[in-house]
Amino acid sequence: MSSNVGAEAKAMPVNIGIEETDRREIAEGLSRLLADNFTLYLKTHNFHWNVTGPMFQTLHIMFEAQYNELWTANDLIAERIRALGVFAPGNYKEFAQLTSLNVEDAVPTANEMIRLLVEGHETTARTARSVISVAEKANDAPTADLLTERLQIHEKTAWMLRSLLAEESPAAATAQKA
Ligand SMILES: [Fe+2]
Repeated sequence: MSSNVGAEAKAMPVNIGIEETDRREIAEGLSRLLADNFTLYLKTHNFHWNVTGPMFQTLHIMFEAQYNELWTANDLIAERIRALGVFAPGNYKEFAQLTSLNVEDAVPTANEMIRLLVEGHETTARTARSVISVAEKANDAPTADLLTERLQIHEKTAWMLRSLLAEESPAAATAQKA
């Protein structure tokens, strides 16, 4: 992505101790993360609206908590890009170009929704992880902190969703066999 340096940066250059080339590289990575996060936010809200079946109540409420968390994170990621002196992507065209997530055409079943959200959180985690080394190399602790926090949330959410797909606990399976 050809990240634009803001007009305000031309009027008064950003002088925070991170070279412009590093700030641009970090912002490019954060822009891909923002696109993943926004796409995952919308996917989760879509599934909140359209989930059906016996697990409706559980999933409807769970997806609501998840999309609210993702919505808040959009702002944190975008404003970190701005603090680095670069404009943040903010429309569907840019997000579609930048995201690594797939978009579904039809309404999936409840189990398929869970599987798709696990994949979405894992994909977003991989994007976040790929940017951490770039931020650390440039001593950009605030970005590294933000990425670490995002990783914790994506990995934990993926685990919780993945657990919904397991029929029974390993202990229960062992007890049944005995
Ligand atoms: Fe709602």
